[in-house]
Amino acid sequence: MEPIIRTENLTIRFGGHTAVSHVNFEMPPRHLKSIIGPNGAGKTTFFNLLSGELKPTEGDVFFKGESMAPLSAVARTRKGLGRSFQITNVFPNLTVLENVRLAVQSKEKIRYQMIRHFIHYKQLIEEAEKLIALVLLDGKEHAIASQLSHGEKRKLEIAMLLALDTEVLLL
Ligand SMILES: Nc1ncnc2c1ncn2[C@@H]1O[C@H](COP(=O)(O)OP(=O)(O)OP(=O)(O)O)[C@@H](O)[C@H]1O
Ligand SMILES: [Mg+2]
Repeated sequence: MEPIIRTENLTIRFGGHTAVSHVNFEMPPRHLKSIIGPNGAGKTTFFNLLSGELKPTEGDVFFKGESMAPLSAVARTRKGLGRSFQITNVFPNLTVLENVRLAVQSKEKIRYQMIRHFIHYKQLIEEAEKLIALVLLDGKEHAIASQLSHGEKRKLEIAMLLALDTEVLLL
């Protein structure tokens, strides 16, 4: 099966220090993989290279066969390569439903307008509710994001990433 994500010779050096060295990694679709290693092994740096937060010194990342080298982190997220940032993308004072609905809305590129027909707004809410159920947060729709437990916050974040049609979740 064609890998959904692949790295080729992925390398980054910080001054004289090689943090990630010639990594060839393949991830088939519909799989889970964990990156493990001791402190300072380069796990976070490797993730930042996949998501586009860091640019490699050598090598490249391919998402569905396409070179990600020219693409920023935001552009990669739009393509479906999404990275969770442990809650920093969540609006703490909004509810679970409002956060997910905004993520759905941002994908659909439909700005909320006072005069827009209510039925459309209702579709956004229904889509958000489906995602909330999918991550097992149903019953918490009206909870304020900042008051969720740590685990619930991570679920909310996954729902928001899925709302953007994310195909690879970097957790
Ligand atoms: N921006 C940077 N500038 C210089 N060195 C860096 C930078 N980022 C990471 N490093 C170094 O690269 C190496 C890998 O760091 P990294 O944070 O990726 O490790 P890690 O596997 O995520 O570790 P931990 O388990 O502690 O989270 C370390 O030696 C670290 O000091
Ligand atoms: Mg780390």
